[in-house]
Amino acid sequence: MKVIKKNQRKTPLFIHKSFKNGKLIAEGGNGTVHKCISKKKIYALKHPKNLAKQHFRELEVLMKISGHPNIIRFYGITQDWDIVLEYAYDGTLHDYLKRNPDINWVKKTRIATDILVGLSYLHDNGIIHRDLHPGNILVNRGVIKISDFGSSKCDDGVNSIDCLGVMAYVDPECDYFPRDKKSDIYSYGVILWEMASGHRPQNHLSPFEDIKNVCVPRKYVGLYKGCVSPRKERLERTEIFRHLNEILDEEFFNEIDSVKATMFTLIGAIMFSLIDVVMFPL
Ligand SMILES: Nc1ncnc2c1ncn2[C@@H]1O[C@H](COP(=O)(O)OP(=O)(O)OP(=O)(O)O)[C@@H](O)[C@H]1O
Ligand SMILES: [Mg+2]
Repeated sequence: MKVIKKNQRKTPLFIHKSFKNGKLIAEGGNGTVHKCISKKKIYALKHPKNLAKQHFRELEVLMKISGHPNIIRFYGITQDWDIVLEYAYDGTLHDYLKRNPDINWVKKTRIATDILVGLSYLHDNGIIHRDLHPGNILVNRGVIKISDFGSSKCDDGVNSIDCLGVMAYVDPECDYFPRDKKSDIYSYGVILWEMASGHRPQNHLSPFEDIKNVCVPRKYVGLYKGCVSPRKERLERTEIFRHLNEILDEEFFNEIDSVKATMFTLIGAIMFSLIDVVMFPL
């Protein structure tokens, strides 16, 4: 493995033919993603359809921010400009939620917290994701990893007004405002709604819309509504972290209570059968 220097960071250069057993995982808008093995290690290899500017934008972002536990890990590039990434064993968050429809609120709140931790890291490094949705959030052995930085932009003040991304997750106010941290928070709010409802949003959410047929903790409802509300009232990340901690505390105790209730029912049933056996032997 050679090493080339770009943007003062050393970027490992992989030799393309060292990758074996390539298996197509997905064909995205900008290219293909394969699961491959190189020197007994499994990677995801992102190959650009054409060398479009999105590919280099993604590369630039990855070189700047990789290394955080909630951001997909960047290992290097090949001589064909393929991007070598950590392979996410559990697929996208969308797949993960589909496979695990009954995860409890403690787990859901932890996932929501991890996404916000990754997003905060991006924002603190001057990066706006601009295409945040459950297909661009990966899960690797249970750990949340934000990925797909093809639409991301460094927050350098020359951000133009545009509306890339999957419509239902895009801040409707981006027709009038450049994409910024607040628009990423809007997308985050839609992801919270999706985790609670178990459905993909069809259109832009109304901040007043309730989730039907699912029992959602009151504070969680307040949280996603606060994230998709108009920009002026939209929650800031410190407030979101506070809400998440409160939900986690409440739900953790609810979980303990329900475990206790199950144990008492079980102990009660065992006691009754014992009494039955002792008092009325055959
Ligand atoms: N590191 C990875 N590990 C496992 N699967 C991955 C990885 N990276 C991408 N994928 C899979 O490939 C799909 C497409 O990847 P990505 O979103 O990065 O590419 P894209 O070309 O921008 O696609 P799209 O236009 O669909 O968003 C993901 O939704 C996911 O299913
Ligand atoms: Mg994508």
